[in-house]
Amino acid sequence: MEQITLALAKGRTAEDSINLLESAGIHFDDFTAESRKLVFNDTTGSVKLIFVKALDVPTYVENGAADMGIVGKDNIMESQADVYEILDLKLGQCKFAVAGFADHQPLGNNGLTVASKYPAVARRHFQKRGNSIKTIKLNGSVELAPIIGLADVIVDIVETGTTLRENGLEVLEEMDSISTRLIVNKASFTTKSESVHALIHSLQKGLE
Ligand code: PRP
Repeated sequence: MEQITLALAKGRTAEDSINLLESAGIHFDDFTAESRKLVFNDTTGSVKLIFVKALDVPTYVENGAADMGIVGKDNIMESQADVYEILDLKLGQCKFAVAGFADHQPLGNNGLTVASKYPAVARRHFQKRGNSIKTIKLNGSVELAPIIGLADVIVDIVETGTTLRENGLEVLEEMDSISTRLIVNKASFTTKSESVHALIHSLQKGLE
């Protein structure tokens, strides 16, 4: 069988993803959470794991630099990459939401300024509501934006709600549910069919 290159999102779900691969019988002897290494080979040589920034995982997979990827639905939605989404791995479960101050002007108003790590998702959401908005792309600590007056509201992921609560903000509108997904490059799905399906099957078993 041909080797599969699997792109994994660095960050908060990385260790859970490695644990899931372990449950699926795919072992990486030299992986530790503290390691700065970016490439790992599994003990059988059937999977090469590469660690990339979460938003880059769909890009690697779409362009065939990786055959498969493990990444959050948030980043798949933001990238709009043309890939197959095969499995919900149920890790990192959270929600997209519009958030801001409770007494904020109605969300239906046109011309709102929306700050987000996910400007494409934010734009599409407000487009669907029929509202034109201005988006500001931030790379973190998005909750600051309405507090400092950089934006009227934010579009962000909410997991426990603690960050919003501790900053005096609340969910104004719930959006899509998010979790970690297994994605596959469209060409690899056919050309490496046997290896791709073997890995899908192992992960399905690991999830049980
Ligand atoms: C994410 C997200 C929220 C927070 C939500 O940020 O952007 O800020 O987690 O989690 P909660 O509902 O459990 O509080 P992250 O921790 O990735 O940090 P960042 O601000 O640097 O993006």
